[in-house]
Amino acid sequence: MAKYIISGGKKLTGEVYIPGAKNAAIKMIAAAILTKKDVILHNVPDIVDVQSMLQIFSDLGGTAVRQKNTLILNAGNVRSTNPKQEITKKLRASVVYAGPLLARFGHVKMFHPGGCVIGARPIDFHVKGFVQLGAKAYINNRYYEITADNLTGSKICFDDFSVTATENILLAAVLAKGHTSIRLAAFEPEVVDLIVLLKKMGAKIKVSSYGQIEVDGIKKLNGAEHTILPDRIEAGTFIVIAAATRGHFKIHNFIEDHNDLILYKLAEIGVKFKLHKNMIEILHPENSYHAVTKIITRNYPGFPTDLQAPMSVLLSQAKGKSKIVETIFENRLQYLHELNKMGAKAKILDSHTAYIEGPTKLHGTKIETLDLRAGATLVAAALTAHGESIINNVEIIDRGYADFDTRLRALGADIQRLSS
Ligand code: EPU
Repeated sequence: MAKYIISGGKKLTGEVYIPGAKNAAIKMIAAAILTKKDVILHNVPDIVDVQSMLQIFSDLGGTAVRQKNTLILNAGNVRSTNPKQEITKKLRASVVYAGPLLARFGHVKMFHPGGCVIGARPIDFHVKGFVQLGAKAYINNRYYEITADNLTGSKICFDDFSVTATENILLAAVLAKGHTSIRLAAFEPEVVDLIVLLKKMGAKIKVSSYGQIEVDGIKKLNGAEHTILPDRIEAGTFIVIAAATRGHFKIHNFIEDHNDLILYKLAEIGVKFKLHKNMIEILHPENSYHAVTKIITRNYPGFPTDLQAPMSVLLSQAKGKSKIVETIFENRLQYLHELNKMGAKAKILDSHTAYIEGPTKLHGTKIETLDLRAGATLVAAALTAHGESIINNVEIIDRGYADFDTRLRALGADIQRLSS
């Protein structure tokens, strides 16, 4: 188990470069299964979730060559349709291999996905969607097996917005016979970027209105080359670190258009920033910060659930009481107990609602990483706190943030990683 030892309270300054988005890269690796030709991805983040998706890709028979931040994927020799349990259970995104395997081979048998423990996270929307495309599904509590002689386009209406279910159905529908209309489709920038890649591969996809995607299936997809969009969640995490430590950073590869609500909330709190082309500069603040009435997580373009936890560190430094409403996952406020150990004043009212009152002087202590974003949140808190913090189990953070400690040290942070 690895840990971070952080001595907080340092003023951080400098520049940071945001890599390609985790939640786009990992789906694009699965998308490469759809063709026998090369899929070349640029700006691929060097994170553990990417390594896990590549492990599944090569276990299935594909080849993947990494040259710095570029991946050359070829699924020409893929024969297996049974990803191994040891890997699929490591991450939620393993489920998005189902759509491409079903579309190309008419079969997939896979163990239930793992990933961050932030809620129930069932896969019923995915399975119902495949069945509506004409597949047969068998599910027990260990695995699911889906078969289809021919996938046929259909109208699919999800019960609610789901990022991976939208992606999975898209990945199947592009090779189905006829027209598929997906209603209540998620529209996160990462989903849109996947659509861009699929269109480069020859897929016929149209976003007809918000929440509605139309697909005309074709027989065969080609290879393609694509540069992955920057990770807005990593950018948001660095914004919080800059603002909470009252530092001054330039954050490169920041897409203003993907972050409207973040910018709106930062302005409400009183964070001073300047927007440049593809860059945000968080300025050293002369003022104090104010609480916000409410942060409510929603599907895009709402406030992202993945930044709900990091944002609370900033709210702990703001004057007054802020309300946090987590609408997407039912177990994503537990990290607040760890923040309270550091001196924050947070109260969890129920599994979706909490209050946080500030400003509080955070102090270093021993804390546990619960999930990926909660882990990054504790790092932000430890950098803001006075004294030494020990954060355990930081391998979870490696799933989504590449070289986190090295990049923070370059900004002046006192952070060491110890493996035991
Ligand atoms: N849901 C169902 N049934 C389904 C699918 C989803 O009930 O079949 C529910 C979930 O339980 C949840 C809600 O629908 O309450 C939304 O879940 P969604 O499917 O959108 O989440 P996800 O696809 O599992 C992705 C990201 C998450 C991110 C969410 C929301 C990936 C691999 N993961 O998860 O990212 O929080 O969308 O934006 O794309 C992270 O990066 O740390 C992370 C957790």
